[in-house]
Amino acid sequence: MFVVEGKVVLVTGGASGIGLACVKEFLNNGIKGVTIADVNDELGLLVLDEIKKKFGDNKVLFVKTDVSDKNQFEDAFKKTIEKFNHLDVLVNNAGIFNERNWEKTIAVNFNGQVIGNLLGLETYIPKHKSSSLGVIINMCSIASVNIRGFNPVYTATKHATLGLSRSFGVKEHFDRTKVKVISVCPGPTKTDMEKDLDTLTLNENYAKLYDKIKNDALLQSTSHVAASIVNITKNAETGSVWVIENEEAAYELEFPTRQQMKKKNN
Ligand SMILES: NC(=O)c1ccc[n+]([C@@H]2O[C@H](COP(=O)([O-])OP(=O)(O)OC[C@H]3O[C@@H](n4cnc5c(N)ncnc54)[C@H](O)[C@@H]3O)[C@@H](O)[C@H]2O)c1
Repeated sequence: MFVVEGKVVLVTGGASGIGLACVKEFLNNGIKGVTIADVNDELGLLVLDEIKKKFGDNKVLFVKTDVSDKNQFEDAFKKTIEKFNHLDVLVNNAGIFNERNWEKTIAVNFNGQVIGNLLGLETYIPKHKSSSLGVIINMCSIASVNIRGFNPVYTATKHATLGLSRSFGVKEHFDRTKVKVISVCPGPTKTDMEKDLDTLTLNENYAKLYDKIKNDALLQSTSHVAASIVNITKNAETGSVWVIENEEAAYELEFPTRQQMKKKNN
């Protein structure tokens, strides 16, 4: 088991939605400090104030960070270590939904996670963790394992992050780094991103597909997702993949072999 209490956590996209809920849930679990790395500094500074009032001045840092920019992301790691002396947990959460600006969606959702894993796993967490273990939580999605025709680019980025996360999560990397890499796949969750889905599909043909299904989803709360993520951080194995949906207990996925995936009439 990984003890969260007393640890230092870096959450990307921590100024709103699931990221912000994770910041609060980790603080409720007695961590030493947390860095919010988010591109939105207006929101970030507001949130910083709110968190300082509730948890104390020395528990939180905001670093304006675009995760698709390696230098900015690395700066968030460096500032975290300057302030808190250690870094134990990275929550690679920042992500966007914008099928119309698909280049940016790929840059933030995928490149951002590649950068986060490279910096976290290969450099900063092994060197600066405060105990024998470190953890990286990669924010994937139910879209990492499902397809829906309304959002091909977002879905592809989330398939890609799952492949990335499972590959960094193999035992050999853990044995070398002592950093667990774990994937979490939330289902529909009530956040600002979820509000954008109507307007940021590729065009009206894609929007129509979204219209067909949009009322089927039960939107779970960010606090439920965050509580599940903290539990998973404490207990899950490296390489494991967890679905968090419908406000229910998280469950682990087992992946079929290629033989099991072979179409029956082949
Ligand atoms: N809301 C859902 O239904 C849902 C479901 C599954 C997975 N997710 C994933 O959860 C993560 C968080 O999404 P959310 O729903 O909380 O959305 P959100 O829009 O509420 O929060 C995203 C945060 O990321 C920040 N951000 C955006 N681009 C950034 C960048 N380049 N660098 C740093 N920060 C950046 C935003 O400013 C914002 O604070 C995303 O990776 C998303 O794909 C969301």
